[in-house]
Formats: sequence, C-alpha cells, structure tokens
Amino acid sequence: MDAETSQVIERVPADIMQNPYGILSKLRAEGPVREVVWAHGARAWLVTRYEEISALVNDPRVSKDGRRMNELFALHSGLPAQEDDAEPAGVGFNDELATHMLNSDPPRHTRLRSLVSKAFAAHRVERLRPRIEQVADECLDAMDGHSDVDLISAFAVKLPITTICDLFGIPAQDREQFRLWGTKLVGAGQDPAEVADAGDKMVAYVSALVDVKRANPGDDMISALVRVRDDGERLSQGELVSMIYFLAVAGHITTICSIGNAVYTLLTHPGEMAKLRGDLSLMPAAVDELMRFDSAAQVGTFRFTTDKIQVGDVVISPDQLLVLSWSSGNRDSARFPDADRLDLNRHPAGIMSFGYGLHRCIGVPLAKMQIEVALTRLLTRYPDLRLAVDPSEIRWENSALLRSLVALPVSVTPVNRA
Ligand code: HEM
Repeated sequence: MDAETSQVIERVPADIMQNPYGILSKLRAEGPVREVVWAHGARAWLVTRYEEISALVNDPRVSKDGRRMNELFALHSGLPAQEDDAEPAGVGFNDELATHMLNSDPPRHTRLRSLVSKAFAAHRVERLRPRIEQVADECLDAMDGHSDVDLISAFAVKLPITTICDLFGIPAQDREQFRLWGTKLVGAGQDPAEVADAGDKMVAYVSALVDVKRANPGDDMISALVRVRDDGERLSQGELVSMIYFLAVAGHITTICSIGNAVYTLLTHPGEMAKLRGDLSLMPAAVDELMRFDSAAQVGTFRFTTDKIQVGDVVISPDQLLVLSWSSGNRDSARFPDADRLDLNRHPAGIMSFGYGLHRCIGVPLAKMQIEVALTRLLTRYPDLRLAVDPSEIRWENSALLRSLVALPVSVTPVNRA
C-alpha cells in the first residue's frame, strides 16, 4: 500500500490528551502506522508500535531539519510557507529560536550536542542534588498549614524552574516571566500573535543576558556557553541564543509535567504507592515505570521523510511528516508485557519517555533526579497525601505534544516534624 492509496485518514481529537491510551491501543492493533490529521490541521503519519518507532529514529531517510520542516508543515496543513513560521509540535517559533540541536541533522546536530552533553552527564548533575532537595523542602514548607493545595502550582512547577534557572544563572526576579514566555511558546491553543510576541521577548531577553554574562561571567551554563562561542567560534550567536532558549525551556516544562503525572498515577494506584512508600529504595526503578506508564512527552516533535520508507505494509513517500508516539511505544505489550498495568517492580528497560536514538534527551539524569527527589520528599512529608477530587474531574491541557495536568488538587496533613 502506498501513501496515495492508504486508508481513510483518521482525525486526532483535539482532546486526545484527556485519554490518549484507548485511541493509541486501537491504532496499534490496526498496524504500526496510520495517516492522521492533527487537531491543528497538519496531515502526518503517526507511528504507534515500539519496533517501528525505534527503527525510524535512527533511519538516515528521516530528517529533523528545522527550515525544511516549516515548509513541509505549511504544505501539509494547507498554509502559506513563511520563513518564521511556527515549528509544528511546539519546539521553536522563529528562526532565532529554531536553530537548536533538536531541529538539526548530523553533522550539525552532532556538533551542537557535543558542546553540552558533558555538562549533563550523571556525575556532573549529581552535584546539584543537595540544592534540589533544599528547593523541594522549601516548596513543601510553604505548603504546610494548607490542607488542600494544587500540587502543580505549589510544587511541580517550582522545583524544575528553580533548578534550571539556577543552572543557567537566570536571576531570581526574571524567573516567573521566563517561565510564562516558555509556557506560551510550547503551550496548547495559544493565540499566534501572543506566541510571536513571547518569541521576540525571549530572544531579546536571552541576547541581553548573554551580554551580561560576557561582561560578568559566573559559574553558570550561559557563561560557559558564551566562552565556547567566543573562544572557538564553534557556535554562532543565533545558535547560542537558540541553545540557551531550548535547554532552559525543554529542561523545565517536561519535568513539571512528569512530576504531576507521576504523583497522579501514584494517587490513583494506592497499592503501588504503598509499596513505594514502604521501600523508598525502589524509587529509581519506580520513576522509570511511572514515566513509562504516563509519559509527559506523548509524541516526538515532527520529523519528515527524505526518501521512500516502508513501515509495515505501507510505503511512505518522501516529504511526508512523521509523528512518533513515545507513549504508544511505552504501552506496546510486544515490548513491555501487560503494558497497561503499572508495576513499580517492573524495571522497564528502553522506555521511550525521553525519546529514543539520535535525539534522545540530553537531560535524563537531571530530570530523573528531580522526579526522584520530588516524590521522595512528598511521600515522606505527607503520609496521607490523597486526591481532593474524584479522578473524573482531573483535566489535562489540550496540547498536541505534552500530557500536562491543568491542576492536581490534593489534601495533605504534614507529619509532625517537631
Ligand atoms: C522529565 C523531563 C524530560 C522529559 C520527559 C524530556 C523528554 C524529551 C524527549 C521526548 C526528547 C526527544 C524529542 C524528539 O526526539 O522529538 C528530548 C530531547 C531533548 N531534551 Fe529532554 N526531557 C526532559 C528533561 C530535559 C532536561 C532537564 C533537559 C536539559 C536541561 C533536556 C534537554 C533535552 C535536549 C537538549 C533534547 C534534544 C536532544 C537532541 O536533539 O539530541 N530535557 N527530551
């Protein structure tokens, strides 16, 4: 079967994030790939089985080149192509923000990634643990005295934004504004004019901060990247701004969503939560399983074919958009037996929640450490942590990319620490 003679195109519901797993399970049962129309209007090939996703991520006929992607996104959405058009799945919104490693193919991707990969290695990141524990405790201290709180705004948001801004040397007074711009840039259903405005302000802010760090370098990642640019000319000014923007934004929003989803999953699986509370040494494996079970990054950012590619019995033509569903791969029982069951003793190997292959997340150790610290501190401080509403009232943002809780109302009674 080829792209022109394929099945009826399935329309992805705008509210798929409210319950993605039923739809993905149906698509997976039908075949590894299906042409769909995304809620924002783009036609793309949605790949849902683990085996085919893991083969495509490293296939040289699959590209992530940002500029060509914008043209193809416009083409497959019936829009006029624009130089500074939005990156489809919410990764970058004008040229200065769109030249980062996730929008690049080798060899450019290799060069950009190698400039920062060491800084995010597990042994480097481990040094941040005491500060992350301190921030987690401060957030929980601020919750004491309140019996009902929204765990997203009171806790899940604060830990990652503080961690990432500490790491990048973003001043305390700018952090809330920085977070709001980031949310506007990757959030769902945003007004395009407001997105463009947030993009312009983000570029202006990061460029000004680069100048400040150049004049007064500190012990932070922006200062280190400025040195790389100025010493070796291995990074253009546009690449520098884009790198800082992307690392700082990708580095906190995904972590916020992951903490929220993990806590919600535990609260709705009390037996597994009790198991974890009874043996906190299970935590690293439990974080992997919680991320497998309900992944924040539900799909990869768009990719496209540069040549004909056969996926199952479908031949996809060149210049077609591809969407790889990490969350569907994570629920594929051919890879993870009884995949719809949460089992904190599973120790799942090869989860797709951080992507897979060439563009696999660079921030895995930092992200997992934050989630581990967040869950450990939360479960220890609040033995009776519980949902304050019926699970049917819980809502996720209608994003095309991320499964992100709108709010997580919980009831808490702190243990007496006197
Ligand atoms: C729980 C939190 C996180 C999740 C769920 C997550 C998820 C992902 C996913 C799914 C990808 C692949 C996207 C694709 O291939 O389309 C990715 C890539 C990436 N992530 Fe993360 N991420 C998280 C935290 C972080 C952190 C803390 C950082 C760094 C500060 C980071 C930096 C990156 C970078 C730089 C890439 C692109 C890598 C490349 O193109 O080679 N992420 N992430």
